[in-house]
Amino acid sequence: MYFGVDYHPEHWVYPYAGTLDKPEARWEHDAQLMTAAGVNVVRMGEFVWGRCEPELGKYDFDWLWRVMDIMKAADIKVVLATPTAAPPLWMAKKHPEILPIDEKGLLLHEGTRHAACLNSDVFWDYSKKIVTAMAGALGKHSQLIAWQIDNGIGGHTTEASFNPETKADWAAWLKAKYETIERLNEFLGTRFWGQTVTDWDQVPTPMRAPTVHNPALVLDWMRFSSDTVIAYIRMQAEILRELTPQAPVTTNLRALTRHFDHFDMAEVLDFVSVDSNATVKSRSAENACEVDLMRSVKKTGIRTPEGGNSGFWVIEQKAGHVNWQEVNSLVRPGVVRLFTYQLVSRGADGVLYFFWRQPRIGSEKFYGGVLTHDGRGDNRVYREISQIGEEIKLLAPVLKGTKVIAETCILYSHDNEWSLKQPMQPNKHFNQREHIHLFHTALHDRNISVDFARPSEDLAPYKIVFAPSLSLLAAGEADRLKLYVHNGGTLVATFNTGLVDEHHIAPDTGIPANLTDLFGLEVQEFDPLPPGEENHLTIKGAFTTTHLHPARIWCDIIEPKECQVLAIYAKDFYAGRPAITINNFGQGKAIYIGTMSHQYFYYDLVAWLRQLCNLHPLLKVPDAVEVSLRQKDDTKIFFLLNHQNTPVRITFFKPMHDFLTGNTFTGNYDLPPHGVLVLDEHLAKV
Ligand code: GLA
Repeated sequence: MYFGVDYHPEHWVYPYAGTLDKPEARWEHDAQLMTAAGVNVVRMGEFVWGRCEPELGKYDFDWLWRVMDIMKAADIKVVLATPTAAPPLWMAKKHPEILPIDEKGLLLHEGTRHAACLNSDVFWDYSKKIVTAMAGALGKHSQLIAWQIDNGIGGHTTEASFNPETKADWAAWLKAKYETIERLNEFLGTRFWGQTVTDWDQVPTPMRAPTVHNPALVLDWMRFSSDTVIAYIRMQAEILRELTPQAPVTTNLRALTRHFDHFDMAEVLDFVSVDSNATVKSRSAENACEVDLMRSVKKTGIRTPEGGNSGFWVIEQKAGHVNWQEVNSLVRPGVVRLFTYQLVSRGADGVLYFFWRQPRIGSEKFYGGVLTHDGRGDNRVYREISQIGEEIKLLAPVLKGTKVIAETCILYSHDNEWSLKQPMQPNKHFNQREHIHLFHTALHDRNISVDFARPSEDLAPYKIVFAPSLSLLAAGEADRLKLYVHNGGTLVATFNTGLVDEHHIAPDTGIPANLTDLFGLEVQEFDPLPPGEENHLTIKGAFTTTHLHPARIWCDIIEPKECQVLAIYAKDFYAGRPAITINNFGQGKAIYIGTMSHQYFYYDLVAWLRQLCNLHPLLKVPDAVEVSLRQKDDTKIFFLLNHQNTPVRITFFKPMHDFLTGNTFTGNYDLPPHGVLVLDEHLAKV
């Protein structure tokens, strides 16, 4: 396992550190402190373009080689980042056309990172040159174990720019997709509001306009922008693979917040890396959901620096507080450790803290680091990280090759999200992430492992697949869902499914499009409800309930055909009409939930499904304890995390061995506040 920090050696030279005589003297001291904290890897280089190419074509990588030598002496490996996230100032002066133009037509100026349009040929050329030069200069260093391409690509909403070059690429992209103007007009439905085009360069980009753009066009624009970002990363990946084939490539992603398709992006990478929000989010389930999402974007073709074929890295984990909230409170003692274990328990094989030391310069100087400005190494966070470092050393051999295996899955597609984010939805208070969280939290809180997948993936490995609000569903995706159920799977889908196809055209064959036979019903109308207004569910039959469950946000009015009704609405003109149904289809079952409820409903749903599908919780523990499992062959490593501020009593019904202390537990054990246990069932190791 890799355990490390994000290091910015360029900050730690004279006059900010070191001396006039030995301007780089601090680097060795840093390496010593890192080793003492258990660090075995650093990531560096992501913003050093201006330092490495101070003038056009004049390169200087020697200083980075010297840092890598120091890391070698300390037995610390290096992930080098290509520095393209921060083009040097001379470039914008020489080629102002590389600066991005925003949707209002305004130029975004230089003087910060990401000030470049990703469709600019000039920027591509310079990027190729710096990446080639860097790989040539540093690629043979023994410490290099991987490349991070760029940094936080698409952050600061630079995924899409509206430069003339972007518009030319857009026209070419559309031409490649539709081939003829007639097809483009047909599939984009341009006759609505009389927006038919007669030439490729007439197709608008969705710039600020008097009112809403054509949703089909906006959807294509999102796909085009996504392809642009991914092409830029692919270009760098190809150069690096050619020059340094031994070093896998990654880039740091964030939990699906950026406007590109993270699944497509993951295909270009050898392994996925994540910037984690842990320690900022208030609920453990929210963090867990983000980790599960990011673990799931790449399931095959993985090549990690350790040579593994599973897992992902958290290349930026918060070491402490951030600097971008209104109030950046300290992260409480033990919480960084707790969330580090949450990441590891959900499949991370590398964790690096952002960042090694709070910089004395620049806009992130009040962002929490492992070291504070004084760089002394006797502070609270350094001690906590050092403790984790010790523990990870113990755990690394045990965890090697283990991975998370999930029996359930939640479907997610970027196309769908991009469609749902558009204005003029049936209910603007519907939030797809909230809907996903209701399902994920129910599974998480009952300690059932869950993956995410695109609807087009092979779903056969999963006992249950949840499909919350796949409003945009391509015909091919609908076929996948049918195949899955036909072969024995259990699918749980909801309202707001199959309202449009991949061209954003509504079906004329009934809702949910292409799936009415699967669910044995048709949605005749739907009634979006404003916040605070509720209907209620009257549950029938086998599905037991612990609460009165509301129907809120959206009520489908369902005409049942072959399906069996599990719940009905309690009031309004559709009182007595089905709200939840189940249908046998082939060997499997298709469950349809026509409304959104509160969290307790989803707990009850999961309890019922657990019996229906013979699904076992990982371990029986009190509610406040999160349990995850990593496994390999017959090795099963359980992680128990107490997310509470108070101790929680756990009763072990059989002896469990704790890797961190070597103790064996049976009977009652009080897990301390924010405490962690890493357990297996084998007594022999005591
Ligand atoms: C991202 C970037 C970092 C830093 C952090 C701050 O993760 O990659 O350089 O700016 O955000 O949260």
